Amino acid sequence: MKKSILITGGAGFIGSHLIQLFVQKYPQYKIINLDALTYAGNLENLKAVEGASNYVFEKADIQDANALSAIFEKHQITDVIHLAAESHVDRSITDPLAFVKTNVFGTVNLLNTAKEYWKGNLSDHLFYHVSTDEVYGSLDDDSFFLETTAYDPQSPYSASKAASDHFVRAYANTYKMKTVVSNCSNNYGPNHFPEKLIPLCINNIKNSKPLPVYGKGENVRDWLFVKDHARAIDTVFHNGKPGETYNIGGFNEWKNIDIVKLLCAKMDQKLGREAGTSEKLITYVQDRAGHDHRYAIDATKIQKELGWEPSLQFEEGIEITIDWYLNNQEWLDHVTSGAYQDYYSQLYENR
Ligand code: NAD
Ligand code: TYD
Repeated sequence: MKKSILITGGAGFIGSHLIQLFVQKYPQYKIINLDALTYAGNLENLKAVEGASNYVFEKADIQDANALSAIFEKHQITDVIHLAAESHVDRSITDPLAFVKTNVFGTVNLLNTAKEYWKGNLSDHLFYHVSTDEVYGSLDDDSFFLETTAYDPQSPYSASKAASDHFVRAYANTYKMKTVVSNCSNNYGPNHFPEKLIPLCINNIKNSKPLPVYGKGENVRDWLFVKDHARAIDTVFHNGKPGETYNIGGFNEWKNIDIVKLLCAKMDQKLGREAGTSEKLITYVQDRAGHDHRYAIDATKIQKELGWEPSLQFEEGIEITIDWYLNNQEWLDHVTSGAYQDYYSQLYENR
């Protein structure tokens, strides 16, 4: 049977890199991108595949069960890779319900649609849920998240992703759906919406605007280049064992303040500014409520069992990322106009 793969959230940051990889690497598959085009979804991220004969875009909301059924019927969906989500922790603090609606209700809607459509031969089809390491909570010592680490989500975002992971596993257990879950660390790279730390700082350094560092900047994240995450999803989709979980990470931990300083130094060079110029923009601001201290993934399982590992060193990935933003002013102009300005002043003014 020819694969007809539904990728949700394909107009977002990670989804758009995954779609490009699949459309170009697998001409024998039909790739259907289902996306509601929220503030985070942008078809400009998909220019490279727009005209490809094995690629289709469907604008739909995963909360809309009728629309989902119609798309499954129309494209005879054989597999799902589910990425559509509300993805930003700060927004989840302001509006937790939006995260319940898309991440929990939307995911269950999608599971139900797949279960109904694949009824009778569930074992021939895979439902792959792309999730985050934030479900494991926050580390205060020097240990790592393993696939067996107990869930302990601390933010409304991670609570909603944890709930959706649990539903995926519950559908595997109860209805015998074939599922797989991967939990990845922080991604960075081209097409990243400038609400997240790295693209926000790149954009602000470019415009000589303050760089808001939460608290003391001591929080630690493990960063992975987005194309390496897409390669990992490809690996898990094709070779992962049904019912399993795979942690994906960069073996690359950084304190926030050190990343911000690295970006400043690299951009001073690239923009021909005197060394130290951009560091003066660093502004320590009120901490995020309930700010998780450290995330650190142990990605040994996917490395050993499936042979995946990151392809890029962090400094190489950061160079590629900065260059992309410097060369894509039009993309930045489009995503930072209108609603972005309102979001930015609401979150950062008087902080
Ligand atoms: P993103 O915010 O850039 O993109 C999300 C996409 O989902 C957008 O295109 C948006 O339009 C779409 N979407 C949102 N609500 C929808 C709805 N109700 N119906 C249909 N489409 C909807 O997110 P991202 O950073 O690309 O993350 C993708 C997935 O990977 C998410 O599930 C996220 O939890 C997970 N993840 C992200 C990271 C990271 O560092 N960004 C790390 C690990 C896991
Ligand atoms: P973010 O990119 O929002 O990802 P996540 O919260 O999912 O890890 O934030 C990365 C880290 O950077 C996190 O510790 C919060 C911090 N941060 C700032 O210090 N300033 C900012 O303006 C933002 C957006 C994040």
